[in-house]
Parts: sequence; C-alpha cells; structure tokens
Amino acid sequence: MLIFNKKADLIDHLQSLKSSSIGFVPTMGALHQGHLTLMNKAMSENDITVVSIFVNPTQFNNAEDLAKYPRTLDRDVEKIEHLSSKIVIYAPEVNDVYGDNTLSEHFDFDGIEDQMEGKFRKGHFDGVGTVLKRFFEIVKPTNAYFGEKDFQQLAIVKKLVSKYNIPVNIIGCPIHREHNGLAMSSRNERLTEENKEEATLISRTLYKVRQDFGTKSLQELVAEVSEVFANNPHFTLEYFEIANAETLLTATEIVEGEKYQAFIAVFINNVRLIDTISLN
Ligand code: PAF
Repeated sequence: MLIFNKKADLIDHLQSLKSSSIGFVPTMGALHQGHLTLMNKAMSENDITVVSIFVNPTQFNNAEDLAKYPRTLDRDVEKIEHLSSKIVIYAPEVNDVYGDNTLSEHFDFDGIEDQMEGKFRKGHFDGVGTVLKRFFEIVKPTNAYFGEKDFQQLAIVKKLVSKYNIPVNIIGCPIHREHNGLAMSSRNERLTEENKEEATLISRTLYKVRQDFGTKSLQELVAEVSEVFANNPHFTLEYFEIANAETLLTATEIVEGEKYQAFIAVFINNVRLIDTISLN
C-alpha cells in the first residue's frame, strides 16, 4: 500500500506509472461507507485510484470546528487497504499543500458560493476551491468523485473546473444513508448513539417535505420544517431551503419543468450536520 505525504513523491510516482486514467477521491478522512463506494466506483472506471486524506484548514470558518474535526488516519488507511491495496493514498501535512501561506484564493462561482453553506460558512468555498485546484494540479485526475450529500460543493467543483479549464470529469455519486436514514458523514463520528437516533429527524423531515412537495406552497413547507426543529430542544436549525437544483437560488414558487432540491443544516449536540434531497 503506497502512502505519500509529499506531493513531489506522489507526482513522481504517478508519472512513472504512465497510466491512461486516474480516478481521484478527495476526502478529509474519517472514512465511511459513502467514501468507500466512491473509491469502488473510481477503481472500476480508472487504471489507478488516488485518495487524498487531508483536513483542509482553509475551508473551516470556525477554529473549534476545525480542531474537533475527526482525524482517524490509521483507521482510514486500514479501511482503504481492506478495499484494495492498489489504491494510492496522499495524506499530506498542511505545509505540503500550502507552504507557509495557509490562505485561500478568492473565487467567483457565479453566486453559488453565496447561497446556503456559503452564507453560513463565510469563505468555505474559497477554501474548497483552493485545495481542490491544487489537488487537481498534483494528481491530474481523469475523473474525480464527490458525494451528493455536499450537493452545493459538487456544483462549486463543476464551476471550478469549467472556469479554469481543468481537464477532469466531475462525477457525483448518490448519498449513502444508515439503515435509519441518517446521511453518512465523517461528522457522525462525533455523535453519541442517542444523538444518531435523534438525528434521523433530519432525513425523516426531508422525506416528508418531498412527499408534500407540490401539494403545499414552498413557504408552507419551509415554515413547517422550522416549526419541527423549533419544537425539538435537541436541535438548532441553521437553515432549511428549497432551491432550484440548477442555480441553487432559493425558490419562491414551483415552475414547471424546473428541478428542485431541499437543503438543511442543523446542529445537534454542537455537531453541524447537513443533508439534502431531490424534490421532483
Ligand atoms: O467534501 C470534503 O470532504 C472536502 O470538502 C473536500 C472535497 C475533500 C475538500 O477538502
């Protein structure tokens, strides 16, 4: 199993392989089944699969959130090795990616960056764009794989590669859920078993919104979700939005032929969880 900590060594290795396709799965570690599914897909579609494990400091707007983000490198490596010892891991330290300048570039993603996650996590998508642009330059992947739980991130990555003409196909993959409906997330590591059960309210609420979509106004649906969480002392709702699935702009009415997506961010026991569902 090859694990590189230095980009220069990874670049040398990838060049020596002269492979015809590289699949890339960028992660921040604390790997779960969702990540492993992305890796399986990458392996089935490419000669080589590279997985990065890097908790990217520039995409956190909150120092406590960064400090508490789960870091489980040994377990992550074991999980990957169990899947396939042919996967190449890039697990750098911050200075290998940023040198002595741990700052983001500023990006214009045509306004998508100002919605939802961008509104509540200032600078988040500049950090995501910065690290992915660097990773794409290092790995030069043919295909890169992202989970649809981070639906807005997926839209941002598509903008990034199209604006900078980065020659990589961006492939979105469906959300993986626990049996009880909780969307898989590295942050779930920070939940107690009780929290994990309570957190099923998030997906249950989204399923209910999907069921009611088209029978109630969007304003009613939004108000109902606010009420569900306001009445539950375990949660603090940060946002619930119904947006156009293409533009990610908040929808105020349903227009025939358009696709809509619901987005939620909620705190449970100080852990911030996001989830999303397609409504039509
Ligand atoms: O989705 C994530 O885990 C991160 O945002 C990513 C894409 C690895 C960039 O740091």
